[in-house]
Amino acid sequence: MGKTLIAGTLARLFAIDGFKVLAIDNDSAMNLSYTLGISDAVKSKIVPISEMKKMIEERTVVKGAGPGVYNITPNVSDIPDRFKVTGPNELQLLVLGGIVEPASGCLCPENALIRTLLYNLLVKRDEVVIVDFEAGLEHLGRGTAKGIDVMLVIAEPSQKSLDLCSKIIDLSRKLGVINIYLIINKVIDESQLSIINDRIRDWKVPLYHSIPFDPEIGKADLNGTSPLDFNPDSKAIGDIKKLFGKLKQLKIDLFDL
Ligand SMILES: Nc1ncnc2c1ncn2[C@@H]1O[C@H](COP(=O)(O)OP(=O)(O)O)[C@@H](O)[C@H]1O
Ligand SMILES: [Mg+2]
Repeated sequence: MGKTLIAGTLARLFAIDGFKVLAIDNDSAMNLSYTLGISDAVKSKIVPISEMKKMIEERTVVKGAGPGVYNITPNVSDIPDRFKVTGPNELQLLVLGGIVEPASGCLCPENALIRTLLYNLLVKRDEVVIVDFEAGLEHLGRGTAKGIDVMLVIAEPSQKSLDLCSKIIDLSRKLGVINIYLIINKVIDESQLSIINDRIRDWKVPLYHSIPFDPEIGKADLNGTSPLDFNPDSKAIGDIKKLFGKLKQLKIDLFDL
């Protein structure tokens, strides 16, 4: 839908503008590093946190307890700085990985560790933290939701995508996210926006920004280059730059007064 494109490009734009940026990949596809333009050499060294079996076991094990008992609030404060990698413009990336399907339906240690990490990252860090979330928001607890300053929900101009986004918005609101904004990506003509505006009239979220369908994004993908590096003047990148401008202003209005 464009979540990774938008998250990665925004992270780069904040970093280029001089902000300290920590990008978090919390999607199972784990492809944020491509959009960020991280080199292959660095990419090859990344191990997603959700796959660090030994470390997860050490952190979550409860001494003397039997199997199936583990600590659901492990100590994770050292993890971001230990396992993040540095990308272009000094931006930092931490790859968490997506939801680990529990065999028995209970919350497994991997998910407990990632939930706690996200809480630490979103509530306790002071740099610009940009998270590429899984569409189901599986790791988002109430405490973490309150730490999200702005949630951008990315939709395509289609019924199916709008239905999914409507569910994500409801869930985010229930969890306590305050500022939820809708972005429409892959727009082909402006008439789509007026139809969407009608559809979302009672959603109580603004259609905050739109980004056109742009073949340059697909070319970048095929070329293995980040869209921002491939063609910084393409139409879609131009609109993501405008989105960055709005978010930067919003940050000043909301937090830096
Ligand atoms: N505005 C756009 N114009 C053209 N192609 C796009 C655009 N946004 C995303 N894409 C393409 O759509 C696919 C999905 O984008 P991606 O950002 O990975 O979505 P998500 O993270 O939501 O799954 C990718 O192949 C990407 O290159
Ligand atoms: Mg993605």
